[in-house]
Amino acid sequence: MIIAIDGPAGSGKSTIAREVAKRLRMRYLDTGAMYRTITLLALEAGLVPDRIAESGELAATVPFRFEERADDLTRVFIGDREVTDEIRDRTVSQNVSAVSAEASVRAVLTQKQREEAAKGRVVLEGRDMGTVVVPNADVKVFLTASVEERARRRRAQQLARGVDQALDEIVSDIEARDAYDSGRALAPLRKADDAVEIDTTGMTIEEVIQAVCALAGDGSAPPEEAALELGTSGEPARARKYPLSRLVRGPIDDWLYRVAYSIVSPLFTLFWRMSIHGVENVPLSGPVVVASNHRSNLDPFFIGAAFPRQIHFMAKAELWKFKPLGWLVGNLGTFPVHRGKADREAVRKAVDVLSAEAVLGLFPEGHRQRERDLGDIRPGVSMFSLRENVVTIPVVLRHTDKVVRRHLLRFPRVVVVFGPPIALPGPNVPASQRSAVASANLIEALHTLLREGEM
Ligand code: DC
Repeated sequence: MIIAIDGPAGSGKSTIAREVAKRLRMRYLDTGAMYRTITLLALEAGLVPDRIAESGELAATVPFRFEERADDLTRVFIGDREVTDEIRDRTVSQNVSAVSAEASVRAVLTQKQREEAAKGRVVLEGRDMGTVVVPNADVKVFLTASVEERARRRRAQQLARGVDQALDEIVSDIEARDAYDSGRALAPLRKADDAVEIDTTGMTIEEVIQAVCALAGDGSAPPEEAALELGTSGEPARARKYPLSRLVRGPIDDWLYRVAYSIVSPLFTLFWRMSIHGVENVPLSGPVVVASNHRSNLDPFFIGAAFPRQIHFMAKAELWKFKPLGWLVGNLGTFPVHRGKADREAVRKAVDVLSAEAVLGLFPEGHRQRERDLGDIRPGVSMFSLRENVVTIPVVLRHTDKVVRRHLLRFPRVVVVFGPPIALPGPNVPASQRSAVASANLIEALHTLLREGEM
């Protein structure tokens, strides 16, 4: 397994790559540190700026040595001399782009990096891993973040090292380095066509690590340092693109879902003459929240059978007490929520579904309603659509409660109605009221659908 992580300065690459390597028990190679080390030596040898072309020879003979330190910083040695701090100095940072643009330097270091990759199980981090060094890597990630966010992170790192550099100075350094690294003719900073881009602005370190581990097919990344912030920008979360982790997706759910869909959907249409209305309201791609009224335990099956895309339902954890049922619904992509307490794991999985541009199914009343048309809507339900900036499709089910309560053979006529997408509250709604306004819009939309169904 080879993981290639590329991105501009300050996108969080080193932190993420190092931690992913640790969790997946892989080796880690910071290729930027290699270019920095050559730059330090070239500066010391007086090769910068006029004799940079001679740096290639240096690169070929440097005995690099890396050591992982307990405090998570990679120690860099040239022979016995430690250069860990020196290679992060401003002079090195300002000259590294010029040295790394030198063809002879790149040729030597690219070769060394490929030799490391050939040993297997390694996370390589740099600018041209996915495009040049290991284009056949199993996982390719391109991390980005706004310049301001990257400068803030870099400043925090510098302060931790006791260096106090002004923020606007860091911003202009980063902008200059971005322009140089992306504009150079040789191995420019560029996202590989098949790399997954993750915009880390406003994401926590933990969220990014989980996303990369998920891409590597590991759903077991421990969330213990969940609160470690990379630094927040105050910007709203953007839609991110990465596949569903195994946390949500069962190992066989694609297959099982298709089989279940092709059996259940015609059956429901036949026996309960299930009629479906408003399916044209459903966006056929992108993240969507589906919020439905709740009358019967069979509701998810009816919505699932009527809906043209796979829905990942948040369902009461009690379903998992009966193991075969838990197995079935879990493998259909449903995940448990423990009601009556703050279930952070369920929240994380719901966010995971939307981040993967999939469909999240919720029953905002929390419990099945027997007497009323619509029970109280839980205040937290709009949290997901607000947090991930996605629309909600309201759904109303009719007569699903009679399917089990009456005699099975009397087959009541089940109706599934999808309403038009409910937009998020506009920008003029104050932050403190966005949740209340979104919930009110949902209640209104569900009541409208219920009234229409009566006509
Ligand atoms: O990741 P970093 O900021 O430590 O990298 C330092 C410089 O090295 C960066 O400006 C570009 C260069 N670099 C490169 O050209 N190719 C790589 N694979 C890694 C880094």
